[in-house]
Amino acid sequence: MKEIVLKTNTQKSVIYCGKGAFEKYAHIEGGVFIVTDSNVYSLYRDLIEKTFSGATVKVIRAGERSKNSRTLLSILKLMADAGLKRGETVVAFGGGVVGDIAGLAASLYMRGTHLVQIPTTLLSQVDSSVGGKTAIDFKKVKNLIGTFYQPEKVIVDPMFLKTLPEREINCGLGEIIKYGALDKDIYEKLQGADDLKNFEFLEDITADCIQHKAKVVFEDEHDLLGARKTLNLGHTTGHAFELYYGKKSHGEYVLIGTFYELYIAKKLGLCEEAYAQNIENMITSVIGNIPVYGDVRKAAGFAVYDKKNEGERISIIAPKREGESVEIKLSVEDYLNYVEACNGFLKEQNENS
Ligand code: GLY
Repeated sequence: MKEIVLKTNTQKSVIYCGKGAFEKYAHIEGGVFIVTDSNVYSLYRDLIEKTFSGATVKVIRAGERSKNSRTLLSILKLMADAGLKRGETVVAFGGGVVGDIAGLAASLYMRGTHLVQIPTTLLSQVDSSVGGKTAIDFKKVKNLIGTFYQPEKVIVDPMFLKTLPEREINCGLGEIIKYGALDKDIYEKLQGADDLKNFEFLEDITADCIQHKAKVVFEDEHDLLGARKTLNLGHTTGHAFELYYGKKSHGEYVLIGTFYELYIAKKLGLCEEAYAQNIENMITSVIGNIPVYGDVRKAAGFAVYDKKNEGERISIIAPKREGESVEIKLSVEDYLNYVEACNGFLKEQNENS
């Protein structure tokens, strides 16, 4: 079991990562309010009731569409109805959606309760439960409303991965490959792995990704200095496609976005061909061939809402070389032209294969 401490100016967050973490660290003193979703609740209802007996449980509908203001208010209402007090604890028990919305509710209710994150998907274990970003989507923009609010504890137990469908593992691998493009040691481990979906491997690499993230969040908790922006590698195009097409998981769109942004970096001479090829191979080993899209300009147009943008320029974070990424700022027109060209390249590749 690994214990990773993430210190910020105002708070300390401890991440317990490994087998047995839930059994050892999930017990909480005092009043507890659980937020979970319908899928997770149907799998873990007994465990939740046994571990947090007497807690109020709010079950939200599973899926990204629940990350909205109505669900947020319904959580806050139940907190008030249950008489939750400021010194008591909100537990986010579930994947990224639960973590984001429960974290936001915890930060708003009485201006802040205690918060514990118990991520149950690979994506939330490896990325979203750590670092204190909370959010809901609003006006069709992902994560438009949110706060920075660190959980006191994050309990990352690989036992939850056993009930995940393969698509959820692929989704988490989207963020893991992102960390591989940011961190040389993670990249080397990924390159050396026989099977990226092996559970022992996932447990080990998850701790490495969290360690990387803890370092970045320590440097730039509020995403103001540039370091945290790197964690958005592949996300500008990924988020835009996710908003427009919305059929795949977040992690899969991150992989597709990384592919497109690598293409742009290569065209601009910012990323070596051989290294780009290695990252592309990792991507396709997880999700297969990158799809060819219709309406790709329209979809990519959603990138204008990305919060990294400055003025009229679209910002993307692309892989550069081992352990290094690069921020590329493009006019909207140039960005859309590159995306269209990449889609055309994929189409040609498909036709020739
Ligand atoms: N998932 C990106 C971040 O936490 O900053």
